[in-house]
Amino acid sequence: MEAAMEAAMGGKGTAVIEVRGLCKRYGERLVVDNVDLDVGQGEIVGLLGANGAGKTTTVECIQGLRDSDAGTIRVLGMDPAVDGPRLRSLVGSQLQASALPDRLRVSEAVELFRRPGSPSASGLLSAFGLADQRKTSFSALSGGQQQRLFLTLALLNQPKLVILDELTQGLDPAARRDVWNAILSLRDAGTTVLLVTHYMDEAEALCDRVVVLRGGRVVDAGTPSELVDRHAHWATVQFGCPAAVRWPDGLGEIVGVREVRRGTNNVEVHGDRRMVAHVCADLVRRGEVPDDLSIAMPDLEDALVALLGATR
Ligand SMILES: Nc1ncnc2c1ncn2[C@@H]1O[C@H](COP(=O)(O)OP(=O)(O)OP(=O)(O)O)[C@@H](O)[C@H]1O
Ligand SMILES: [Mg+2]
Repeated sequence: MEAAMEAAMGGKGTAVIEVRGLCKRYGERLVVDNVDLDVGQGEIVGLLGANGAGKTTTVECIQGLRDSDAGTIRVLGMDPAVDGPRLRSLVGSQLQASALPDRLRVSEAVELFRRPGSPSASGLLSAFGLADQRKTSFSALSGGQQQRLFLTLALLNQPKLVILDELTQGLDPAARRDVWNAILSLRDAGTTVLLVTHYMDEAEALCDRVVVLRGGRVVDAGTPSELVDRHAHWATVQFGCPAAVRWPDGLGEIVGVREVRRGTNNVEVHGDRRMVAHVCADLVRRGEVPDDLSIAMPDLEDALVALLGATR
């Protein structure tokens, strides 16, 4: 899919990550298949795809944690397979499967990972609700608190690039919002972010662009809104209309309307996203203002389901 490849390479600004033709095999199995990926400076790019699609393998190759079998990778102009130690001081990583020694306290973990000259971690610990847990050992933290600690460690040394694999897995709703805000502030300060997530609301809230992997290949890429337009652009307007009542004429002729369905006691209007405004305006113009009108707009989850062929 040529267009998908071009969009995957559509980063703004200087390339912070530049991947060309990346391939990775485990034994006979090709799990990353000719992936191209560009992440521009100051962008938040999301890597999306079903379980086993090759996301973690890709980001591990980008971090120099796994050798690739073919292709080239440049991170901040360096080859991670060669310049690993230098890159580690510039890249903050949160891995999907991480652990720390059970008895290591939060404050000790921070001191262990903090490089001389980096700012104190107290701001990050407060932002992620860990300020009162400084003396708590790793094994006594809840799963979500452990995840927040890994994020703190990833952001500790003011990295130029942050790579986050399953960013907010296991976090409560308020903590997720705190993490989102922290990521957006980082981006506003010029940091580049590559993240892997299964939460489509998260990708929509954070990502400038997303790249979708299926079976190790890039199948599409673009802004979340472009993906919705390409794969899930049908919206629905629905309102009550008892069987005995005539339904409004001419709905089918409104711009963007694709189909009007009469149910027993309701009317459903399907069409592209822009028809919603036209249909609502039309109803108001006719003086027909239903008090139970509801709108279902397609979102990135709908687009991914359509693209990857799964069911909700
Ligand atoms: N160390 C390994 N040895 C052999 N096969 C592996 C190894 N790690 C991953 N795989 C296989 O490679 C494929 C891609 O795995 P990967 O972890 O990159 O997927 P993912 O997209 O991150 O999935 P998830 O959403 O579940 O985290 C999977 O089929 C997996 O079984
Ligand atoms: Mg993974």
